[in-house]
Amino acid sequence: MELRRFLSLAEQRGWPLHIPTPVSPRYEMARLLYALDERLTLFDQVEGWAGSVAAGLFARREYVAMALGVPEEGLLPTLVRALNSPVAPQVVERAPCQEVVTTDVDLSCLPILTHIPGDGGPYITSGVAIINDAQGRRNAAYHRLMLTPDRGKCNTFTARLVEGRDTHTAWLQAGGPLPMAVCIGAPLSAQLAAAMSPAPGVDELSIANALAPTPTVRAIGLDLEIPAECEIVLEGYLSQELGPEGPFLDLTRTRDFVRQQPFFVVERITHRSQPIYQALLPGGREHRLLMGMPREPTIYAAVSRVCTCRNVHVTPGGGNWLHAVVQIDKRGPEDGRAAIQAAFEGHTSLKHVVIVDADVDPYDSEAVEWAIATRFQADRDLVVLPDQPSSSLDPSARHVPGAKARTTKLGLDATIHWDTPAGPARPQDWQVLDYEPIDPTPYLRDPEASA
Ligand SMILES: Cc1cc2nc3c(=O)[nH]c(=O)nc-3n(C[C@H](O)[C@H](O)[C@H](O)COP(=O)(O)O)c2cc1C
Repeated sequence: MELRRFLSLAEQRGWPLHIPTPVSPRYEMARLLYALDERLTLFDQVEGWAGSVAAGLFARREYVAMALGVPEEGLLPTLVRALNSPVAPQVVERAPCQEVVTTDVDLSCLPILTHIPGDGGPYITSGVAIINDAQGRRNAAYHRLMLTPDRGKCNTFTARLVEGRDTHTAWLQAGGPLPMAVCIGAPLSAQLAAAMSPAPGVDELSIANALAPTPTVRAIGLDLEIPAECEIVLEGYLSQELGPEGPFLDLTRTRDFVRQQPFFVVERITHRSQPIYQALLPGGREHRLLMGMPREPTIYAAVSRVCTCRNVHVTPGGGNWLHAVVQIDKRGPEDGRAAIQAAFEGHTSLKHVVIVDADVDPYDSEAVEWAIATRFQADRDLVVLPDQPSSSLDPSARHVPGAKARTTKLGLDATIHWDTPAGPARPQDWQVLDYEPIDPTPYLRDPEASA
């Protein structure tokens, strides 16, 4: 669903907050979004920008469910289906995102937010970057872009490419400039798919198109096809030249540090007439939901290969990135341990995972803790995997410049043990007991009081 359609459907539900007052992209908008708990927000007057700015598009699961036309509980199966059955998008000749074409690039015309004092500069955080690798396979992924205006013309960003991910690998293999298009205000299907990490070579835009029709168009000056219904597209290339990128307030609400990263040089901007810029608050609930939720289907798919997976929740306490709860239908003694290993394969940045039975709600953190308290024995049910590839976003990991960070992973099998002996702890004694309901009203009335 294109961004404009999403906004008009959201309007019918009364969701968006409108900010008619003039605001500055330097700190003020980010602070406001945070104060508003990242409700879907439309800024009507932003300093230096003639159009509007939309923010918080992915801040609630109900927004995403509406964008995909499913109930909230249908999100995981819908994402799993699209991941398993990508459909190549239709390529169209003319596209809304190319209504206006500018080659005299001046990035200061965009309302790029500076989010918090101490950040390395203004950052585009909602851009979906499209590249083709050396084998001609397309990759779509988010890459934050730090405006780097001190290189003469205001046409350059420094891009953060996480080591070992597909864009990074393609950039290393290119050995020279790697053509890249960055789509701002992309269709929501494309944004969700870009946040997934399917197997290398699987085209995220085909996953997007399986979620909802997402036609593509050839970029004007690059040999790349991009979603046709974006608001703004930056066409250019990733150079092999590096500059400092960061600091940046990231997903775990800690400051990601400065690294040497490639420049993204913009040669052309194409956009709709009266484009809507999209902001995304780093470290906020939208950032976390958009990163974590698309990992649930990949974890689900991996766990389903080894046992019966019922549900997956990448939890907010772990920054919606480092922690997950996996609910399984246990059918054999090894299912819990197998699920732990598989979950780490389904989301390589996952650090801690808890496996629970089908009667434990993975969205209820108290219920999950209860399962750990009542079903888990550390000498039997704990899996510790030292020296594993880590998320770059965990400040406690061992960080090595230019290489993947390393960490220790941990899994807790909090399912009922298979060989629970009969006797004092019979399996039926492992369920939560509820008192029978009773209406307390009559008990609260004073029997002496007159009617
Ligand atoms: C809001 C958001 C911001 C992200 N920022 C970055 C980033 O700056 N650099 C990066 O390499 N990945 C970033 N990611 C993760 C990528 O989109 C993608 O999931 C990851 O690179 C794996 O995809 P790939 O293996 O297909 O390249 C971000 C994801 C989201 C949802």
